[in-house]
Amino acid sequence: MERWLVLQIFVSYISFVNSYSLVREYSGQSFFNRWNFYGGYDNLTQGNAIWVNESYATSQGLAYVDGQGHAIIKVDNITDVPMGQNRSTVRITTQDTYDLGSLWVIDLYHLPYGCSVWPAFWSFGPNWPQDGEIDIIEGINVMSANQMAIHTTPGCTQNVSEYQLGTSGSTTNCSEASGCTVTETSPNSYESGFAVAGGGVFATQFDSSGIFIWFWSRPDIPASISQSDSASMDISQWGTPHASYFSSTCNISQFFSAQNLVLDITLCGDWAGTGDNYNASCGNSGPTGLCYQDCVVGPGSPRYDNAYFNISYLRAYTSALPSPTSTISNTATVASATSMSSTTTTSTPSPGYGGSTWQSIESSDSNRDGWGPIVMLLIAAPIVLIGSWPLMFKRRHQSMQAAPPA
Ligand SMILES: *[C@@H]1O[C@H](CO)[C@@H](O)[C@H](O)[C@H]1NC(C)=O
Ligand SMILES: *[C@@H]1O[C@H](CO)[C@@H](O)[C@H](O)[C@H]1NC(C)=O
Ligand SMILES: *[C@@H]1O[C@H](CO)[C@@H](O)[C@H](O)[C@H]1NC(C)=O
Ligand SMILES: *[C@@H]1O[C@H](CO)[C@@H](O)[C@H](O)[C@H]1NC(C)=O
Ligand SMILES: *[C@@H]1O[C@H](CO)[C@@H](O)[C@H](O)[C@H]1NC(C)=O
Ligand SMILES: *[C@@H]1O[C@H](CO)[C@@H](O)[C@H](O)[C@H]1NC(C)=O
Ligand SMILES: *[C@@H]1O[C@H](CO)[C@@H](O)[C@H](O)[C@H]1NC(C)=O
Ligand SMILES: *[C@@H]1O[C@H](CO)[C@@H](O)[C@H](O)[C@H]1NC(C)=O
Ligand SMILES: *[C@@H]1O[C@H](CO)[C@@H](O)[C@H](O)[C@H]1NC(C)=O
Repeated sequence: MERWLVLQIFVSYISFVNSYSLVREYSGQSFFNRWNFYGGYDNLTQGNAIWVNESYATSQGLAYVDGQGHAIIKVDNITDVPMGQNRSTVRITTQDTYDLGSLWVIDLYHLPYGCSVWPAFWSFGPNWPQDGEIDIIEGINVMSANQMAIHTTPGCTQNVSEYQLGTSGSTTNCSEASGCTVTETSPNSYESGFAVAGGGVFATQFDSSGIFIWFWSRPDIPASISQSDSASMDISQWGTPHASYFSSTCNISQFFSAQNLVLDITLCGDWAGTGDNYNASCGNSGPTGLCYQDCVVGPGSPRYDNAYFNISYLRAYTSALPSPTSTISNTATVASATSMSSTTTTSTPSPGYGGSTWQSIESSDSNRDGWGPIVMLLIAAPIVLIGSWPLMFKRRHQSMQAAPPA
């Protein structure tokens, strides 16, 4: 009986370790629950945008759920904005924070674009930049490819020869103003190309072994996502990430803490509105060659007709697995949480932000009858192996590269 129990725990654990479990889904009519609206003008990136409050966004149709159950977040394309005023748009931040061991999957049909438009889907910790920032989707004006990045305090670098499909930017020092950027090389990751392909899915693994970002255009979304029951996610067949930030050159546990997720759109500002960033592609948008005067001021349509997010869902998962360096006692705690069907999740307050951090609650007593140490041993081995899978596929990749061509 007891032996059978141990075997059962082991088998159920083995089948679990590549999986993540859902902790929150933002979708459908409840999409906008559990977000904070900024409610003030853009005093962070000098954009000519007013990030309106929730009641105004709702009444003006700037944040709503459409007939298909998709969340729409958009720039005001109705108001004729006079000189000296800024244009209404939206910035929302999750009330929940998501710690190391999280996986975020967002499915979108449209991203905001057009001259002066600067959207982002990103995350940050309570103290910026000490607690890190992860830019998952970010683009300006009529850029054709998405740009990812991380931002940290000094001491974190990206090893640009690491395993990723995207192209790293000019600096490897993630504390410089640009952060460590990686540009998509896959087509259809931003702008009209993204929309024409029917959008796609971006996934971010936020782990002590590294931060990894994937993108799939609609036709390429893997079955593990498109056929997911949404309660769990198996990432083992996802292949090479598009951006990889391994902990070997950036200690993720040191430079990042639990993150809030943000969706926002600003206009002009520090990146989209300045110098060549603006005028190389948008300088002929109007008589002045200046972002604010030629774009923000004046009628909103057709200029801002494409400046909207169309989001099917955002899902946050947790591995509930310790890092490869975790102690055996942590391992035992996690084992009891993951191997029993009574696993539940709950939130606890997180200081500063009024948010909450997801934690697994262990409710089991698998340690009784002296079987505990054996269970722990059986469970610890696969955790240590599988918890470090990014490093393993990196090593495998390196050894394949090292092999002489046939
Ligand atoms: C931006 O404005 C908000 C109020 O809307 C204020 O709480 C915050 O401190 C300001 N931040 C900066 C960096 O000025
Ligand atoms: C418009 O936005 C700019 C840039 O953020 C800011 O300096 C200015 O004060 C804003 N104007 C109004 C009227 O809020
Ligand atoms: C929301 O913003 C609108 C427009 O600026 C303002 O009139 C209203 O008082 C604000 N509501 C709240 C609850 O702050
Ligand atoms: C960077 O990555 C390359 C290739 O994977 C590896 O040979 C090198 O040791 C790494 N450098 C550091 C500092 O980790
Ligand atoms: C990285 O950039 C930061 C900010 O510019 C600077 O303080 C730091 O010295 C740089 N580190 C290295 C190793 O160049
Ligand atoms: C990474 O940072 C964590 C948290 O600050 C620390 O406990 C750990 O020793 C660091 N690891 C390395 C290899 O420096
Ligand atoms: C575009 O901006 C750059 C950098 O500010 C400037 O040197 C250049 O003259 C501008 N070009 C035009 C056509 O305005
Ligand atoms: C604003 O843009 C939407 C598409 O995002 C479009 O359906 C609508 O007609 C536009 N509004 C106006 C007033 O043109
Ligand atoms: C959002 O995208 C879905 C799928 O393409 C589409 O059916 C829906 O009409 C779009 N919503 C808006 C407001 O564009």
